[in-house]
Amino acid sequence: MAQKQWTAVDRYITDLLVENDPVLEDALRDSAAAGLPPIHVSPSQGKLLQLLALTKGARSILEIGTLGGYSTIWLARGLPSDGRLVSLEADPKHADVARSNISRAGLSGMVEVITGRALDTLPRLAAESRGPFDLIFIDADKPGYPDYFTWAVKLSRRGTVIIADNVVRKGAVIDAASTDPLIRGIRRMNDLVAKEPRVSATTVQTVGVKGYDGFMIAVVTAGQ
Ligand code: SAH
Ligand code: DHB
Ligand code: MG
Repeated sequence: MAQKQWTAVDRYITDLLVENDPVLEDALRDSAAAGLPPIHVSPSQGKLLQLLALTKGARSILEIGTLGGYSTIWLARGLPSDGRLVSLEADPKHADVARSNISRAGLSGMVEVITGRALDTLPRLAAESRGPFDLIFIDADKPGYPDYFTWAVKLSRRGTVIIADNVVRKGAVIDAASTDPLIRGIRRMNDLVAKEPRVSATTVQTVGVKGYDGFMIAVVTAGQ
């Protein structure tokens, strides 16, 4: 019952406020055809990411976890024409599908998909002074979230917005005794966020086509 209603309301919101976009639909179609798992953000969540980028006036974005580039395209469309987005993806097949989707969206000039495990590619970005970024979206493997948050802070400046997807997981996040590596990863990140004096954060629970989950949104309040 609840899921049916969340889906219906999400559809109502999407039909009303989220413009129909063939490029985004093509990206989902090709991702599914290539066998990628359907775990991309929903259309209404993609639009939220774009609006956050616009609100922030972001000129540089880092994404951790590209999949087929669906959230990447939403975020990149929130950038000015000289903006830049770097997206990190461990799976070469996912990265290939994403590059093709991003190219069809006309965004190859501003988006770079870097193949490799984020824990290998994040230090490289830092070493090459590719940061700081204005907005960072964490959406790769959940056990990695504590490390990704730590790297995100390193790659930030004052005012950087850090967003992490899937931090509620049907409420499972409150189970302190959980042995699930996903939940443990999210909880360890939350503990880091809570005790990090350089960020101010909250988590918003969400329902919709993807079920019951949530976004953590943090703002870096101190210079690095
Ligand atoms: N942001 C995407 C969804 C990402 S799904 C969207 O909303 O459209 C998570 C992605 O993270 C998958 O493609 C997976 O291959 C990738 N991933 C998993 N472990 C990773 C790692 N260690 N480093 C980088 N990417 C990883
Ligand atoms: C799932 C959803 C996500 O947004 C994600 O990043 C990973 C997994 C899921 O529903 O399993
Ligand atoms: Mg996600």
